[in-house]
Amino acid sequence: MKKIKKNISKISDDNTAIVIDDQLPVSNNHPAPDPNQLQKFGYFITPIYHITKPEFLDSIRKVSKRLLAENEKEVPKLHPIYPVRQTGSLLAEEELKEFFDFVGQASWGALNSEGYAMENFSLHFQEAWVQEHHKHSGHDEHVHAFGSQLIGFYFFDTPEDSGRLVFHDPRPAKRQINLPEANMNLATDASTAINFEPKAGDLFFAPSWVPHSISRHAGSKPLRMIHMTMAVSFVPPEQINNNLNLNTQNTIII
Ligand SMILES: [Fe+2]
Repeated sequence: MKKIKKNISKISDDNTAIVIDDQLPVSNNHPAPDPNQLQKFGYFITPIYHITKPEFLDSIRKVSKRLLAENEKEVPKLHPIYPVRQTGSLLAEEELKEFFDFVGQASWGALNSEGYAMENFSLHFQEAWVQEHHKHSGHDEHVHAFGSQLIGFYFFDTPEDSGRLVFHDPRPAKRQINLPEANMNLATDASTAINFEPKAGDLFFAPSWVPHSISRHAGSKPLRMIHMTMAVSFVPPEQINNNLNLNTQNTIII
């Protein structure tokens, strides 16, 4: 648990914040150092969350089938270079309310567990849509701007040789200076990207500042997933009791 004392800094002549030594954030969850043991801390990490939720598969497949069929009517032929179908927004789909409630609560809980003062913030979805990737389709590395805090992915059809969900190191300076990895098959501090082989029912979410991509899909049947972005809004304390949005009573365990 980190504890940050108040009044921790002053401003220098060039407007740079100077943190005074005895007012640095302190950590009290590690043992006293052994003089022969090099201690390693892991601050400023990149959190990536995962849970398997197969109970949403049926409703999502049903809604997706309808929306993808509508898309196919409008655009019968797949693009030869980008063979992907993308539906419109899922956010008004009544059958998916339980799904979005769950993802929203889990996301709010994740931000709360990271140490943000979430008691005055409610979470809402900005976008959610289906991507259907056909053979050779993928989604190049990108981030989501426009105020989103979190990104989410729910995989519901994952045939053999599906494209993978890839998270890329969000630190450009580190990527620029990275040394060759001893073993690129291992996820280590030297890695510049981490990939996950998706299975039906997998839900992932991460901060929106994490670059991500879907690697090329090699399966003969399509890979189908929902992609989502989430944002938060400040709720004045006097409105919290009347706010029907997410709060700490929800029971997602982080
Ligand atoms: Fe994205």
